[in-house]
Amino acid sequence: MGLVQWNSELSVGIPSIDSQHKKLVELVNTMHEAMLTGKGKDIVAKILSELITYTKTHFKHEEDYMERTAYPQTAVHALQHAQLTKKVLDLQSKVESGTVTITMEVMNFLKSWLQDHIMKMDKAYEQHFKQHGLK
Ligand SMILES: [Fe+2]
Ligand SMILES: [Fe+2]
Repeated sequence: MGLVQWNSELSVGIPSIDSQHKKLVELVNTMHEAMLTGKGKDIVAKILSELITYTKTHFKHEEDYMERTAYPQTAVHALQHAQLTKKVLDLQSKVESGTVTITMEVMNFLKSWLQDHIMKMDKAYEQHFKQHGLK
């Protein structure tokens, strides 16, 4: 069983975004699996780099939707995206320099890094995006 479970609690009601969130959940779970099976630094770094690349793509997609519909919370949401990106980039440099290895503590950080933002900030745009017919 994965570390993060996808369920309706995580759904923001916008199909393109739900599917991107599912992919992010999958990448966090892949990282957890790599930790459990004792995969080496190279594999962990590769998964982390995939997670970062996909996160950037995803944030861009959400910010594009926000800008196109003049979402009132765009600035604060984009700022949180920048902070979240910085956190994983920091983790990446620590993993690459060997000062951090992937432990359950790191995994729990990634789990809340993903879930908290979806549940608090992302869910807030649901009605606004739906009113603008975004899918
Ligand atoms: Fe999101
Ligand atoms: Fe977001």
